[in-house]
Amino acid sequence: MRTIKSNINTKGEPYVSNYRDMSEAIQKLRIELARSTLGGGEKYVNRHLSRGRLLPRERIEMLLDDGSYFLEIAPLAGIGMQNEFVGAGVVGGIGLVSGRECLVVANEATVKGGAVSEIGQLKHRRLADISAQNRLPAISLVESAGADLPVQSKIFVPGGRGFREITRRSRERIPSVSVVFGNSTAGGAYTPGMSDYIVMVKGQAKVFLGGPPLVKMATGEVVDEESLGGAEMHSRVSGLSDYLADDELDAIRMARDIVSHFDREPLAWPATGVETPMYPSGELLGIASADIRVPFEVREVIARLVDGSRFDEFKARYGTTLVTGFAYIHGFQVGILANNGVLLSESAGKGAQFIQLCNQQNIPLVFLQNITGFMVGRAYEEQGIIRNGAKLINAVSNSTVPAITIMIGGSYGAGNYAMCGRAYEPRFLFTWPNHRIAVMGPQQLSGVMDIIKRDAAAKEGKPVNEAELITARQALESQIELESDCYFATARLWDDGIIDPRDTRTVLGISLAISCRQPVRGTMEFGVFRH
Ligand code: COA
Repeated sequence: MRTIKSNINTKGEPYVSNYRDMSEAIQKLRIELARSTLGGGEKYVNRHLSRGRLLPRERIEMLLDDGSYFLEIAPLAGIGMQNEFVGAGVVGGIGLVSGRECLVVANEATVKGGAVSEIGQLKHRRLADISAQNRLPAISLVESAGADLPVQSKIFVPGGRGFREITRRSRERIPSVSVVFGNSTAGGAYTPGMSDYIVMVKGQAKVFLGGPPLVKMATGEVVDEESLGGAEMHSRVSGLSDYLADDELDAIRMARDIVSHFDREPLAWPATGVETPMYPSGELLGIASADIRVPFEVREVIARLVDGSRFDEFKARYGTTLVTGFAYIHGFQVGILANNGVLLSESAGKGAQFIQLCNQQNIPLVFLQNITGFMVGRAYEEQGIIRNGAKLINAVSNSTVPAITIMIGGSYGAGNYAMCGRAYEPRFLFTWPNHRIAVMGPQQLSGVMDIIKRDAAAKEGKPVNEAELITARQALESQIELESDCYFATARLWDDGIIDPRDTRTVLGISLAISCRQPVRGTMEFGVFRH
């Protein structure tokens, strides 16, 4: 396989400015990620520690095997949102427990007693999907006040899905373990309640449908917490608990023992002899432009992600705004689709063909998305840009090999869909800090609305109020600018997290290893292609 020859000048522009801008963006990312580890703040963390308890990240660290990776999912969920803490009150990700890849989810008890907020629920749902799609055993480290009560209307009804999915996964032989470290009330009680295995920590776990105040109000019965739902009672009387742990460390040991009985699916990590790329990953910072309107050569990115910088490019001279080809990443063979400009009819058709080829040979897909959308205009419509774009979306929608999407720049319009955006269910989707996402750019969108308003006024024969239109246009532009930000996106679980571009190869390697635990099976069945 031929190697990609890099042509960048690390001493000149735009490399130097790109490097500076990306470094600043990474600095901001580091600060936000550090903030995401602070839980509910000093007061609540100190109170938690003074009760002799471990913090959720400490529990996870103790649970994981020595030297295991932890691929954290959506650490910045909820960031900048009303009624949300950074991380949305839950820590979740994938790592090795007793030699098995597992999904680990820990309530952040220092945030509203571990209550599940609106975004917290979305994050729980995403984590559950990861367990189901990749057949990962799930371990919940529970300490949760149930639903975030003031926002119950947003979570109560859809929240039922989470409990349903635990038992459906169980039916599919994907086991679940709950370790209860503290209060686990009402909705919080059903996560352990639906799990296959439950461990409870003596003197700490309190699991009940309603706490003593609710019981008193409902029935007049006066009962203390320990008798109502303590670990001893559940282990000896109700039978809800399967294992009674002396303390938190004992509980974590028990969870590790339970997992050690699970079917050991062979880890998909390839053996040895993996070549590293020929060019340093640090150079990625100078390649991607912080201004998504400035294009960059995507082969320079591929050269820094794939084994030995080797890339067998497919249809290199046709539909050149989409680069397609075969490569290996950490020893996993992949088919790469990467934007190198706006999507045209030829590039869309080429992408659809390439996806079919990868499905035919059971090869996972990697999408490198940097797309301002499909080309618009009369000539392009006449050539059938919608028809051809639909082909690519058809192929992406029906493809059954695992796909992993990395947003390395802009993600606009139907380009988001055609390049396997969130709605197309890639197994994992991460973004770079320069990422921007919206139906279209802020200027274009506000300009379109301006034209629509002017046309409407003209049809009615009314004069326009110029000052009002300008104010409305500016306000809309600022709103869309804000909503296109990568933090706005990650807050809402539109992705699995923002990563340092230098970590992309590692993140892809882990994501591929998780996605390829089960045999990769492509399909030859697609919807009707519109030719
Ligand atoms: N929804 C929203 N906020 C909640 C909450 C819930 N379910 N449970 C607790 N909080 C808030 C508290 O109001 C408090 O906020 P404040 O510090 O701003 O006043 C903060 O979380 C910490 O709660 P606190 O009671 O001081 O913590 P604790 O560690 O001593 O006790 C619980 C934790 C879980 C035992 C206790 O908060 C509790 O019983 N909560 C209600 C549980 C419940 O009935 N849930 C039913 C939901 S379906």
